[in-house]
Amino acid sequence: MALSRCVTPILLCLLLVLTLGTAGSAQSVRPPEAPAEAGSQTLEDILARQNGEGAARSARDLSTAMPAPDGLPLGTRGAASDSDLWQALRFGTADVSVSAGGPTARVIMQDGGMWWLQARRTIADYGGWLLLGLIVFLALIRIIFGRIKIHGGRSGQTILRFTDLERFGHWLLASSFLLLAFTGLFSIFGRNGLIPFLGKDAYSTLAIGSKWIHNNVSWAFMAGLVIIFIFWVGHNLPARGDLKWLLRGGGLLTGNHVPAKKFNAGQKLVFWAVILLGASVSVSGLSLIFPFEMPLFAKTFASLNWTGLPQLMGLDTLPEQMSAQEEMQYAQLWHAIVGFLMMAIIIAHIYIGSVGMEGAFEAMGDGDVDLNWARDHHALWVEEVMARKADPPAPPANDPAAPDPAPQA
Ligand code: HEM
Repeated sequence: MALSRCVTPILLCLLLVLTLGTAGSAQSVRPPEAPAEAGSQTLEDILARQNGEGAARSARDLSTAMPAPDGLPLGTRGAASDSDLWQALRFGTADVSVSAGGPTARVIMQDGGMWWLQARRTIADYGGWLLLGLIVFLALIRIIFGRIKIHGGRSGQTILRFTDLERFGHWLLASSFLLLAFTGLFSIFGRNGLIPFLGKDAYSTLAIGSKWIHNNVSWAFMAGLVIIFIFWVGHNLPARGDLKWLLRGGGLLTGNHVPAKKFNAGQKLVFWAVILLGASVSVSGLSLIFPFEMPLFAKTFASLNWTGLPQLMGLDTLPEQMSAQEEMQYAQLWHAIVGFLMMAIIIAHIYIGSVGMEGAFEAMGDGDVDLNWARDHHALWVEEVMARKADPPAPPANDPAAPDPAPQA
């Protein structure tokens, strides 16, 4: 009985030591070697950091795990107290050993994360107001100017505007973009905007589903982007008349329409914005889907510094060295900025392609538009189509119905 009373605590201690030892082999954290010179975090350091001034780190870096100065009592764990350890972790000076994951996994706490969190909130605020402001603006335009009507009313005759394949590309892009936009908004506003209404459990299910949809639907978006690029790039190159169209706003509000080809200058701007911003949001999204595999920003910043552009704009030199975590933070911020810009452009596009303009939706609905609508907005394109119909292409050379070629001399 007496023996078992002694053995039980000894076994428990052994078990505890073994458990801690095994955990330590997966990831162990030691405060760094004591530096040669001592410094310490001062009240000024703390106040400056709280004011967002980013206190000099050198003193704080030195202050991690120092031996206790002569004559002063030791901390609770000797020279290396808990606060020393947390400081060392925070400023990346702790000697962390990991069994997998390389240098990236050694960063347990990242000081730059606070800046990123703040920037993310700012982008969400400005982005949210941009979208809300635009919706109010478009509602006012609709109330003040009404719907853009077809000049002279419908003719009753139609003309094919987009083929099935073109419309497939457009709707693949549009439906995937809408899913990405809503799930993206859930993830950026969900914590503050949805948890109060849905509760944490329901929001957690929504957030997990949202993330799954966001990551997987992105492939359909990229495919749609490639398809519309291939179909429409030829019609979206700059042409004579584009500037006139832009200066007069296409005559959309006055009814004095500026003649345009298949796409007018306003549509060309939408097309290139969708292609360029879409490509950029895709690349930064890929960098987020494959963490630490596609660092983009240190190299981009180095190229920008080389051009001298940041200095011209009165900015500091952009950082060319950054940790893998900082790369991810920049990718997330850029992804959010480009996402908000695209959403704003697309809200305006959806307005004009549906409730804002009579006869426009049919182009992407069944593909045929009223001839008078086409003459209003794309008069030069109608002329081209009519000319092609009136002048059918020459039959192939080996066609038996073809007239004999002119005799050769
Ligand atoms: C879901 C609502 C949408 C509607 C109702 C809509 C409607 C339309 C219509 C009617 C056109 C043809 C305009 C014409 O005949 O000239 C068009 C073209 C186009 N759409 Fe959409 N669209 C929607 C969403 C999107 C989205 C989400 C994107 C891209 C992310 C997009 C990108 C484009 C592009 C690039 C064009 C060609 C350029 C232009 O007409 O501005 N659309 N859309």
